[in-house]
Amino acid sequence: MQVVRTIPECRLAIKDYRAAGETLALVPTMGFLHAGHMELVARAKALADRVAVTIFVNPTQFGEAADLEAYPRDEARDLAMLREAGVNLVLIPEVIDVYPEGDETIVETTRMANILHGKVRPGHFRGVTTVVARLFNFVQPDWAVFGEKDYQQLQIIKRMTRDLAFPIDIVGVPIVREPDGLAMSSRNVRLGPEDRQAALVLSCALDAAEALPGKTVQGLKDHIAETINAEPRATLRGLDIVEAETLNTISGPLTSPTAIMLSAEFGGVLLLDQRVIEP
Ligand code: PAJ
Repeated sequence: MQVVRTIPECRLAIKDYRAAGETLALVPTMGFLHAGHMELVARAKALADRVAVTIFVNPTQFGEAADLEAYPRDEARDLAMLREAGVNLVLIPEVIDVYPEGDETIVETTRMANILHGKVRPGHFRGVTTVVARLFNFVQPDWAVFGEKDYQQLQIIKRMTRDLAFPIDIVGVPIVREPDGLAMSSRNVRLGPEDRQAALVLSCALDAAEALPGKTVQGLKDHIAETINAEPRATLRGLDIVEAETLNTISGPLTSPTAIMLSAEFGGVLLLDQRVIEP
């Protein structure tokens, strides 16, 4: 496994793959890897001859400097996991190379970035698309793999890729869960034992919603809100039921694939879960 820290070194490595006629899949991450990330790597390996992973804690997608500072990092452990998984290339760029002095170019999906989670985190998705567009240019993969865990992010990246005609297939991977159903996240370690147990209400509420007969938007919302509110340790923060691809708000009976985007707080830790359901 080759680890590079500059863009010219990255380009050289990729040139070799291309000269050999090999295909390439990219998995962008912010590091501190867990089994969810490794599932994306496994998918990338199944798709392409070569797999590249980027590790970059992107400053432009954090609202507060304190959150950026507090973001967990463990490069040695990440590299050991990626080596074990058979990754070919890891790019760990410097902030100054991703955002050169005096840079002024941004990429933004003007509607999708500013609804749902984007409403409460202004500038977040603009930071995501700006960095992902740059990473796409550094690595120039044939595929890029993202998790459905961050459902809005995945749909935004698909839209950006289409709008800018990047010759890259965006692949979404279903949420990887703990055996009891909790979606894997680097935040889960911050949950105390009681909140960890209570957090199961998220996946349970989605399971129950999916099993409801005669689904309507209001029926789903009421059922999920009731389930979450019945758990005293949970504070419901977001419950959105939207058209799966455009993220447009819908109402009435379901007529097309629909995404349920759910977030709740447990002892100060905000957790996300989501499910795409058929009508
Ligand atoms: P990060 O939070 O490190 O996540 C990297 C990728 O792992 C994302 O595509 C995310 O959806 C996926 N992922 C995380 N937990 C998962 C789980 N339990 N199951 C499946 N996939 C999971 O998302 C980012 O980084 C950044 O915004 C990035 C795209 C790298 C841009 O900076």
